[in-house]
Amino acid sequence: MRRKLVGGRLLDLVDGSLTAVDVLVDADAGTVLAIGRELPEADEQHDVRGAVLLPGFIDVHVHLREPGFEHKETIATGTAAAAAGGFSQIACMPNTNPPLDEAEHVEWVRRQAAASGRTRVWPMGCITRGQQGRSLTDFAALREAGAIALSDDGKGVQDGGLMREAMLRAAALDLPIAIHAEDETLARTGVLNPPAARRLGVEPQPGESESAMIARDILLAEQTGARLHICHVSVEPAVALIRWAKARGVRVTAEVTPHHLLLSEDAIDGDDAVYKVNPPLRSEADRQACLEGFLDGTLDMAATDHAPHSSEEKAAGLAAAPFGMVGIETIFPLLYTHLVVPGLLTFPQLVQRMSTRPAAAFGLSGGVIRVGGPADITAVQLERERPIDPARFYSKGRNTPFAGWPVTGWPVLTMVGGRIVLCDREEGGRP
Ligand code: DOR
Repeated sequence: MRRKLVGGRLLDLVDGSLTAVDVLVDADAGTVLAIGRELPEADEQHDVRGAVLLPGFIDVHVHLREPGFEHKETIATGTAAAAAGGFSQIACMPNTNPPLDEAEHVEWVRRQAAASGRTRVWPMGCITRGQQGRSLTDFAALREAGAIALSDDGKGVQDGGLMREAMLRAAALDLPIAIHAEDETLARTGVLNPPAARRLGVEPQPGESESAMIARDILLAEQTGARLHICHVSVEPAVALIRWAKARGVRVTAEVTPHHLLLSEDAIDGDDAVYKVNPPLRSEADRQACLEGFLDGTLDMAATDHAPHSSEEKAAGLAAAPFGMVGIETIFPLLYTHLVVPGLLTFPQLVQRMSTRPAAAFGLSGGVIRVGGPADITAVQLERERPIDPARFYSKGRNTPFAGWPVTGWPVLTMVGGRIVLCDREEGGRP
C-alpha cells in the first residue's frame, strides 16, 4: 500500500531551507519511496498543506509505567501521547513493577508495544537487579531480548565498584549505560534545590549530588571505554564536566529536559508538587548553563523524562508527592516557541537535537527523511498557536508546569513506518 503526503515543505537539516514537496511511502515496507513533485499515484493521500515535514522525533527518556503503574500511564496511552507530540520512536525506562531486569520483562514490553503502541518503543533494561544497586543484571540476555541500553533511572547506582563492573560488561557488548546521577549520601531525602527548599521549608537536594556522580562515571567511562549517556542534566558543573569529558575523547552523550531549559527554581510558587521533579529545578545560573550547553552541543539532545503521575499522587504536596513531570506532548512547541522563534537556536538545530542526534547516540534508524529510509515523519504547523491544555492530553498524566503557556508549532501528523499514528487537521479539534 502506498501513501502520499501532499503539499508539505521539507526542512533541509543543513541549511534550514524549506522546499515544497510531496512524499510517497511504501506503507508495507515502511520506507520512503520518493520525495519531490509530480510523484506517481498512491492508494491514499494526506493533505499536509502548510506543514513542515521533519524526521520523526525520538525521545530516549520516557516512563510508560506499564507493567505495574497503569493508573499513571500505559503503553497504549503513553505512545498515543508520544505520537501526539510528534514522536515516532521512544525509549522507555525500566522503573516499572516488576522492573525490566529480566529478559522476559523486556520481551513483554516489546510485545505489548507492538500490539498496542502507536510509536516504536525501545526498552532500557535495568543495570542492577530490582534497581537495588547490589548486583548486576544479565546484560547479554537483556540485549538479546531487545534492550537498547541499560539504566537504573529514578535512582543512582551508589556503589562505584559495581558501576565500574557494569561499564566493563556494557563496553564488551557495546551497550550504552544511561545514568540517573544522584549520590544519595549528598541528596539524602532532598526535594528541591537548596534556595527553594529553604524558601518553602522542605529538604534540600544540592546540585553536587548530581555532578559528583557524573564526575565519577565520566572517569569510569574513560577507564573502561564504555558508552555513557547522562540523563536529565540540570546543573552548571555537570555541563562543564561533560564538556571536559568530550574534549578528552570520552564516549559520552547527554540529554537535557525542556523543564530544565525553560524553568528555574524561581518558578516554584508555594507548595505545589507540579514543580517537583528529579533532578530538581535549579538556579537561574544553572538554567543558563544548560541552555548554553544545549546550544553548543555539549548536551547532545533534548529528552522529556516524561513522568506521569495521578492527580491524587501530585496533590500530596512538595514533601510527599512523587517526583516527575509529563512532557512528551508539549516539548516541540515549547522549544520551538522559546528557543527557535527568539533566535537562540536554528530550526535545523532543534530538529537535530530531537531526532538526528538521539538516533545516532543510540544506533536507531531515522533522524533524517531520505528515499529508502524509514517512513518516520512528523508534520508540524509552525503557525498553529494554542495554549497548553492538559485536558487535551492523551497521556493519563496531567502533571505539567506549562499549563496555559501559549505556544506555537503543534505537530499535526505523525507517521511511523508509513503508518499514520496522529492525524489532526482540525484547528482546535482532538484527532
Ligand atoms: O522526576 C523524575 N521522575 N525523575 C526521575 O528520575 C524518575 C521519574 C519517575 O519515574 O517518576
